[in-house]
Amino acid sequence: MKNILAIPISFILTGSLLACGNQEGGIEENTQQINYQQEAVLEDTEITNGISPYINNFSNSDTLIVYFSRVGNTEYPDDVVASTSASIVADNDTFGTTGVIANIIRESTGGDIHLIQTKEPYPSDFDALREQNHDEMNSGYLPLLKESDLNMDKYSTVFIGYPVWATDVPQAVLSFLSKYDLSEKTVIPFCTHDGYGAGGSYNTIAKACGNANVLEGLAIDSSDISSAQETVETWLNSIGIENPMSENSETAINIKIGNITLNGVIYDTALAHEITDHFPLSVSMVGYGGREYYGGINFVPENASGGQLNFENGHITYCGDNNTIAIFYAQTDRPNLTMEVIPIGKVTSDLSVFDTLDSREDITFSITE
Ligand SMILES: Cc1cc2nc3c(=O)[nH]c(=O)nc-3n(C[C@H](O)[C@H](O)[C@H](O)COP(=O)(O)O)c2cc1C
Repeated sequence: MKNILAIPISFILTGSLLACGNQEGGIEENTQQINYQQEAVLEDTEITNGISPYINNFSNSDTLIVYFSRVGNTEYPDDVVASTSASIVADNDTFGTTGVIANIIRESTGGDIHLIQTKEPYPSDFDALREQNHDEMNSGYLPLLKESDLNMDKYSTVFIGYPVWATDVPQAVLSFLSKYDLSEKTVIPFCTHDGYGAGGSYNTIAKACGNANVLEGLAIDSSDISSAQETVETWLNSIGIENPMSENSETAINIKIGNITLNGVIYDTALAHEITDHFPLSVSMVGYGGREYYGGINFVPENASGGQLNFENGHITYCGDNNTIAIFYAQTDRPNLTMEVIPIGKVTSDLSVFDTLDSREDITFSITE
C-alpha cells in the first residue's frame, strides 16, 4: 500500500453517496439517513476505567498501526471502485476512510501498518453487509482472519482503527483482539464514522484489551477526511505523542568512552527527559553477548512503563527490571531480549567502535552544547 501522505494534494473523494447505495438496483442512498442500528447509542462514550490520557514512553520503532476497513475486506463488482462511504483514491491505490487516517497517523508516528483482513470478504451490498454485521454482533461471532506474520511482541504501542459499525466496532476487530495479546501495551483507538461518532466502541476496545493502557481515542467524521491531517496531529499531541519523526523532538547528545566521543540523540519522551535530567551521567558499562553494553544507574526513573523485547542497532535503552541503561550496537542471532527495554535515544555515529572496546568501560552521556 502506498503512502498517501506524501501526496495529500492528490486525494480524490470518489462519489461517496453513490458508493454506499445498492449498486445493482442503481439506488442512491444517503448515508446520513441510514439507520445504522435500531438500538443505537449515538453519542461518544467516555471511557474511564484504567484509561490514562497520556502516553508515557514513545518511540516509533515499536509502534503498530492496525486497522480494519470495508476497503480491503470486500469484493466489489468490477464496475465499482470501492463501495465505502468515502473511499479515497491516491496514486492509483484505493483506501477506505479508516485507511486514510491510519496512514496519516503513520506519517506522524512512524511504525508499521497492518490491515485486518477476514478470510471471507464482506458483501459489497450495503444492506446485506448491515444485516450480516447485526447477525455477527448479536451472536458474538468472531470472523476468521487471514493468516499474517504479524509479531505482536515487537510492539509496545498499538493504534487500533476501524469504521464505526452499528455504533460499535466491527466484529473483525474483536477477532483481532482475541487473537493477539495486547495486555501491558499502550492501545490507542481511532475510528471513522458517518456522523454519529464513536458510539460504544472505545469501551468495547478497552474491555477486549485486557490489561492494556488504553488512551483516549479519536473519532473522525468521514466527511471531514480531506482535512483530517491537522485534527490527527492535534490529537496525537494531546495524548502526548509529538512527532518522533521530526528532528525537533530529539535532543543531540554525546557519548564519551575514553578518548572517543560519539554522537547521538535522546527522544522526546517523559522517561528520556527524566534520565537526561541526570546528565552528564557516567555509567560503568559491561559488554554483553557481542551486542550491547549495559550498566546500572543510581536513581530509579518513574516514567518507565511499557517496553519491548527487541532493539535496533544504536538504541540507547532503559530497562526497569534491573534499573540499567544499555547501548545496543549489533543484532545477533539472538535478537530477542529476555527483559523488556524502553528506547530513550540512539547513537548516530558509526557503531563499529563498540567491537574494539574493553569488556568494561566508563561511558558518559552529556547533552551536546
Ligand atoms: C455496516 C455499516 C454500519 C455502519 N454504522 C455506522 C454507525 O453506526 N454510525 C456512523 O456514524 N457510521 C456508520 N457507518 C459508516 C462508516 O462508519 C463510515 O462510512 C466509515 O468512515 C467507513 O470507513 P471505511 O471506508 O474505512 O470502511 C456504517 C457503515 C457500515 C458499512
